[in-house]
Amino acid sequence: MNAPRIAPSILAADFSRLGEEIARVEQGGADLLHVDVMDGHFVPNLTFGPMIVKAIDKLTHLRLSTHLMMTDPEPFTEAFVKAGSDDVIVHIESYPDPRSVLAKIKGFGARRGLTLNPETAFERIEPFLGDVDVLLVMSVHPGFGGQAFIPEALHKVTRALDLKERKAYRYEIHIDGGIDLETGPQAARAGAEVLVAGSAIFKAPDPRTRVEEMRKAAIGKR
Ligand code: DX5
Ligand code: ZN
Repeated sequence: MNAPRIAPSILAADFSRLGEEIARVEQGGADLLHVDVMDGHFVPNLTFGPMIVKAIDKLTHLRLSTHLMMTDPEPFTEAFVKAGSDDVIVHIESYPDPRSVLAKIKGFGARRGLTLNPETAFERIEPFLGDVDVLLVMSVHPGFGGQAFIPEALHKVTRALDLKERKAYRYEIHIDGGIDLETGPQAARAGAEVLVAGSAIFKAPDPRTRVEEMRKAAIGKR
């Protein structure tokens, strides 16, 4: 099995010293950063918009994977790309048909990402997966860090991998929520190529070494 890529989720970082926090995981070998945008409507929590993403982009060379937990993200997608987002991930629950927003994201030059909540059936996103670059499987209910992993998400990862291989689709499979040294390896075995982890990395005694520990745990070396 290939080693999964590790995406620290900065939601769990100490924002009063974000530069240092990002530098630590970057030095630790993080492959990309996961950036959670919440609008206080799609989810009962509020984070930040493109201005802060732009500030984050100045702090790092890492790819920024921006997860938009928003009821209507479409009007903001250009601003998020301009701010430095390399991936722009929208929720299938935001739109009956996400094709237009995905096409816009591509037009702005970013990777098109689609994600689904734990209670949403995989069938709901399936018709759109031929035109997606990132498929993010939510393994907690979005809105907050530090929640327990929902094991049923592993079935969606397995289905995503199976579909990808059968249809020669190109999306990268990410998993987000409750990923730690125990659930990360399970997700990687199921087919997750990117492990998003907030608390498990930033609340670790040393986030720098934790990035590598996660990667090693996922390939069965501790
Ligand atoms: C939850 C966010 C996650 C969150 C994960 O709404 O989408 O990205 O940061 O945090 P942990 O890893 O603590 O579950
Ligand atoms: Zn997220």
